[in-house]
Amino acid sequence: MPVNKKLLLLPGDGIGPEIVNEVRKIISWMDKRRSVTFDITEGLIGGAAIDATGGPLPDKTLEAAHASDAVLMGAAGGPKWETLPFEVQPERGLLGIRKELGLFANLRPAIVFDALADASTLKLDVVKGLDIMIVRELTGGIYFGEPRGVEDIGDGNRRGFNTLTYTTPEIQRIGRVAMDLAAKRDKRVCSIDKANVLETTVMWREEMTKIGKDYPDIDLSHMYVDNAAMQLVRNPKQFDVIVTTNMFGDILSDCAAMLTGSLGMLPSASLGAPDENGRQAALYEPVHGTAPDIAGQGIANPLAQILSYSMLLRYSFDMFEDADFIDQAVQNVLGQGLRTGDIMGEGSAKISTSEMGDAIINELDKQAA
Ligand code: IPM
Ligand code: MG
Repeated sequence: MPVNKKLLLLPGDGIGPEIVNEVRKIISWMDKRRSVTFDITEGLIGGAAIDATGGPLPDKTLEAAHASDAVLMGAAGGPKWETLPFEVQPERGLLGIRKELGLFANLRPAIVFDALADASTLKLDVVKGLDIMIVRELTGGIYFGEPRGVEDIGDGNRRGFNTLTYTTPEIQRIGRVAMDLAAKRDKRVCSIDKANVLETTVMWREEMTKIGKDYPDIDLSHMYVDNAAMQLVRNPKQFDVIVTTNMFGDILSDCAAMLTGSLGMLPSASLGAPDENGRQAALYEPVHGTAPDIAGQGIANPLAQILSYSMLLRYSFDMFEDADFIDQAVQNVLGQGLRTGDIMGEGSAKISTSEMGDAIINELDKQAA
């Protein structure tokens, strides 16, 4: 029976519109199979919104996001808007929508596809088969803490300040997300902090330890962030689920992304707390940015965007079969040696953004046949 879901697309800036277009192909492919029909709205965010409305997150976009079952975003930002005042830069749009929708749980899986294991800058045996999940707290910490700002302190000098703050409930809810995910994986959670220096993260560690007691089957460990950065490149396969603060998660997830060969491969899901009807705000976006240097050339890798859509099907709509179809299609296409420029390897064939999208559709056809 066809289900009708409300989906908001926010292509954003740079390569965002090009890679979201490839997802549109998959959406209409699924429409034809009638496994699902989507009611699609498109909105503005980031630089595109600034150009059209003067601000990076128009009210209309927020309203549409609240009214949707899920949001699929491209990326926001670019050199064109970098000189604008801080408060209206494209990144405020992204941070704003995360905050307004209460998307506190950011899931960033780092998976090494077999066909791409040699694209990593690390040795093959270090990364082959890698499958880790970074759970990044997304609406708190130093990103949002008050007070913040820059003030004059006289004699032509200034003082800049940001605040790292977490409350018990904020830590508990992200901790539980990590534990629940680990329960369906290898049952290991590593909580990352800087408890040797920052009081807030001493408390983070204490709260995580308390939560751990509710999950006797999960092996919970703790690590300082500097060590974690080192361990991620030394022996990444020691990790299963990583849970950490907003800022540490931002940094470590870029690092984890590169283990997989390209930032162009990594999807993400940002989830809110389910309400009493089980409805849960959710936004899906690639981990990479807008790549202004290659925007508009039709050469960007759409796979992180496509995999973000597969996460959307999985996490927001429980459409596991369709999500598996897409993930398998990605594997098959890579297995055939088809590559966009960012993941080129010896003996592989270089294809464009839209050819990559078409290749995925082709694989979906084969699987559905
Ligand atoms: C990310 C990005 C964003 C962040 C920027 C663009 C605001 O780096 O999603 O990791 O820091 O969260
Ligand atoms: Mg980042």
